[in-house]
Amino acid sequence: MPTNKGSNDLIVVPDSPAISGLIFRRFRGEADYPAMVTVVNESNKADQIDHTESVKDIAATYRHLVDCDPHEDMIFAEMKGDVIGFGRVWWIRKSDGARSYVHFALLLPGWRGKGIRRAMLRHNGHRLQKIAADHPKGEPRFFETWAADTETDWESLLVAEGYKPVRYTFEMVRPNLENIPDLPLPEGVEVRAAKPEHYRKIWAAAGEAFQDHWGASEWRDERFKEWQEKSYFNPELFQVAWDGDEVAGMVLNYISEKENSEYNRKRGYTEEISVRRPWRRKGLARALIARSFKVLKEHGMTEAALAVDAENVSGALKLYENMGFRTVKRHTTYRKPLD
Ligand SMILES: CC(C)(COP(=O)(O)OP(=O)(O)OC[C@H]1O[C@@H](n2cnc3c(N)ncnc32)[C@H](O)[C@@H]1OP(=O)(O)O)[C@@H](O)C(=O)NCCC(=O)NCCS
Repeated sequence: MPTNKGSNDLIVVPDSPAISGLIFRRFRGEADYPAMVTVVNESNKADQIDHTESVKDIAATYRHLVDCDPHEDMIFAEMKGDVIGFGRVWWIRKSDGARSYVHFALLLPGWRGKGIRRAMLRHNGHRLQKIAADHPKGEPRFFETWAADTETDWESLLVAEGYKPVRYTFEMVRPNLENIPDLPLPEGVEVRAAKPEHYRKIWAAAGEAFQDHWGASEWRDERFKEWQEKSYFNPELFQVAWDGDEVAGMVLNYISEKENSEYNRKRGYTEEISVRRPWRRKGLARALIARSFKVLKEHGMTEAALAVDAENVSGALKLYENMGFRTVKRHTTYRKPLD
């Protein structure tokens, strides 16, 4: 078992397998970002997840963490000085009062099957128990994590540790941008270019609409800054509908050139699809999605993609199917009671 040799940097992990050269340590700040990017990208390749991480996006996330102190809440696995995996925990107060204690642990494919990730997962669980000890009881509290249906190593570990699937998210693709329906905007609503002075209102409107989404939580201000620093913040592609000076709804499109060249495709994302309650069921989301297809096509894209809660209570799944999207992958949210 690795031991703490007096350095504050090392973490003692009681469930660690005995592997010569393996140590666990704390987060060392931005110096860790490149190694984190490597672990994410190599894991994604092995797990057939078409997403490419970058230092820019990792930095944006870690600059604005909410209810997470990376120096206490992260763990790094190192083999002879090289990072081979890392994990993190945080917690979220849901709008319905429940608290989820969220965590993940990633490990390079070559090191899997030796008990290293199980040790990290259990360490994360102990850390979350400690955090939860200071929180009020009474409301539902659970551990929460997620897996794509292609992340078979992680999924079997979660099941073995007592996690149960509670909800599914579908990744959907519209495989072409042909036959785009001509759908008018509802009366009194117009689309305007997104300018910096609008960002706050757009952000707040999305936060309000997404309170009707499964698992909703408060829209935290730190996230407003993070949102603007991410590579997928492409306001020139946004389709934001206004009714006077009120934001009625939006589709916040983005294109990742990096991913498109990596996966040899021309995909644009139609994301953050949301309409505030007074403007719902008037065809606004459909019209904004159709306009988004046109904008993505003008930018040279040949397909569109999004993610949707499989049981979306506003009927979004049906809406997207009607707009030509098809499910290509399933992601599962797993939970385990904390108390
Ligand atoms: C999901 C959401 C964006 C839909 O917005 P919307 O503007 O109400 O959607 P639309 O009006 O375009 O379409 C919704 C349904 O209303 C129907 N509809 C459209 N015009 C209508 C009208 N004039 N009268 C009655 N129904 C109408 C549509 O046919 C559609 O039904 P369908 O799914 O069977 O095709 C909105 O409910 C929302 O913001 N929900 C909360 C956030 C969320 O879950 N977002 C999705 C994230 S993936």
